[in-house]
Amino acid sequence: MKKILVTGGCGYIGAHTVVDLLENGYEVISIDDNSRSSTYLLDGIEKITGKKVKNYKVDLKNFDETLAVFQENNDITGIIHFAAYKAVGESVKEPLLYYENNLFSLVNILKCVKEFNIPHFVFSSSCTVYGNPDSIPVTESSPVKKAESPYGATKQMGEVMVEDYTKVSGCNAILLRYFNPVGAHPSSLIGELPIGKPQNLVPAITQCAIGKIKQMMVYGDDYPTRDGSCVRDYIHVCDIAHAHTLALEFLISKKNQSACEIFNLGSGNGITVLEAIKAFEKVSGVALNYKIGPRRPGDVIAIYANNDFARSTLNWDVQYSLEDMMQTAWNWEIKIKKDEQLMNTQNHVLN
Ligand code: WQD
Repeated sequence: MKKILVTGGCGYIGAHTVVDLLENGYEVISIDDNSRSSTYLLDGIEKITGKKVKNYKVDLKNFDETLAVFQENNDITGIIHFAAYKAVGESVKEPLLYYENNLFSLVNILKCVKEFNIPHFVFSSSCTVYGNPDSIPVTESSPVKKAESPYGATKQMGEVMVEDYTKVSGCNAILLRYFNPVGAHPSSLIGELPIGKPQNLVPAITQCAIGKIKQMMVYGDDYPTRDGSCVRDYIHVCDIAHAHTLALEFLISKKNQSACEIFNLGSGNGITVLEAIKAFEKVSGVALNYKIGPRRPGDVIAIYANNDFARSTLNWDVQYSLEDMMQTAWNWEIKIKKDEQLMNTQNHVLN
């Protein structure tokens, strides 16, 4: 059984990818320092797959501790590198935190790839590398423009670092540029666990609908779009997860034409914020309490993917609709509330 190392395996996209890898016959280990995640999703992975995944609680900025994981697992076939901070707004306020965490971690992982001659590497990138595109939909050859945030800059630099390393090694890599991953596993056993007030649209919607947030803000309805709100390409997290398994298989079967390939992972549909809210209200039956506020600095007006290359080359198909994304996100929010109520009851009984 081929062993895959997933960094950030306790995180939102990481956990969903671990499930997909296990369901496709891979052995998986995780490195996650749980600074922005918890082992809660590991429990969910075990419930879904029946398999316990070992997570090494290691800070990837600590090279010696990271190397020790590779010394203990010298049969790693491939690596999927998710571990990074990803809050756009926070990165603007704390650029050095983002450059140190996201880039030092990547350098250390690549040094281990070199030390152990790991042949296959998949890098978690983002459509944010395109900035405000001149034309949409964007293809993989659309220009990479000046990053709108330090977070986006770390993704741009990360892509360059990985590509440069493949030029001087036998390692082959794939850069996956996600658009907006949303939703949760259909089992509602794993999903997104935002820390603090959610920055991203869909968790903000579901937390508002369930009452965790009193009112949700729509950041601007005066953009040059069909209804004035920003356009994004929402893609179900399970579709994103399966693309990682396909990307690894693509590398393992040596189908790649170059040492470093890039793929857009988006649904190919541009949806406005107000349309996303309407889709949520339709599937949940909840009238969302939101109001229109000022634009959010750094927001791209409109972006969505041309996903032809990923669909044709990786044989990747988008399985989940916008309604599925909203339904699974809502089911997950309801599930978390029940777990919190259960834990509060248990704590109450214990105290
Ligand atoms: C989407 C739209 C907001 C919250 C970022 C990163 C990207 C990825 C996902 C990591 C925008 C609007 C949001 C709210 C709102 N990050 N919005 N009210 O900014 O497109 O992408 O997060 O992988 O790399 O760039 O996602 O969900 O934050 O915003 O109106 O409470 O929803 O203005 O137009 P974004 P988002």
